[in-house]
Amino acid sequence: MKSEFLSTAAHELRTPMTSVYGFAELMLRREMSPAQQREIFATIHRQAALMINIINELLDLSRIEARRGKDFELETLDLRALASALVHDFKPPADRALPEMALGALPVLVRVDRNKLAQAIGNVLSNAYKYSPDGGRVTLRMVAASVTESTLVGLEVTDQGLGMSTEHLARVGERFFRADASGNIPGTGLGLSIVKEIIELLGGSLEVHSAVGQGTAVTLWLPRAALNHSDSLLELA
Ligand SMILES: Nc1ncnc2c1ncn2[C@@H]1O[C@H](COP(=O)(O)OP(=O)(O)OP(=O)(O)O)[C@@H](O)[C@H]1O
Ligand SMILES: [Mg+2]
Repeated sequence: MKSEFLSTAAHELRTPMTSVYGFAELMLRREMSPAQQREIFATIHRQAALMINIINELLDLSRIEARRGKDFELETLDLRALASALVHDFKPPADRALPEMALGALPVLVRVDRNKLAQAIGNVLSNAYKYSPDGGRVTLRMVAASVTESTLVGLEVTDQGLGMSTEHLARVGERFFRADASGNIPGTGLGLSIVKEIIELLGGSLEVHSAVGQGTAVTLWLPRAALNHSDSLLELA
């Protein structure tokens, strides 16, 4: 699996690298108008940005894998407070509204690494906007599991976007897997594998439902935490 992963990673990097190399060579060999040069620089810039993303996400993944959660800084916090602070700071794409929130009235305590969980939620939120190019509502909801599993709490992000087929859905979370192969929406296909790693290291799981042309619902399930006497309620704010 490791060598298959390496060859996929190398292949994913080669595509933008080839483009950067080819366009740089073109610039060296041909006389071009300033307008043509600008266009080529823009392509080089875009492809280099994609490579940086891939490399950063690969480093993230390998760090998370190597540390197996040992470097997680766990604290007990209110998931609602974390989620609403995130939404508050979230920057949706131009002319899109912020996510609609339904987080409930009571604190929901979880024991998590604040930054890692924020990264996971941010990834899922960014997908919700990215894969609904025609707009539509994005919501962030607190959902509880059935009574028998009341020890779990879910944070659900829904969109009314492109959705995914059953075949694609089955492969979501696989490294470098991208359901939307049109190439119109930039991405590396690593975001959800990072989310999955983080959530599973926190003792939770990732659940995804989707229907083509209707939208997607991604739920981050986490174990509820009991309030520990060493955690001051004030800190939860
Ligand atoms: N909300 C969504 N609606 C429809 N398709 C989605 C949604 N979220 C993810 N996908 C599909 O799953 C694929 C994998 O998502 P993932 O977040 O892992 O990678 P990405 O968005 O392509 O790149 P990045 O690493 O920048 O997040 C996407 O390419 C997309 O095809
Ligand atoms: Mg993504």
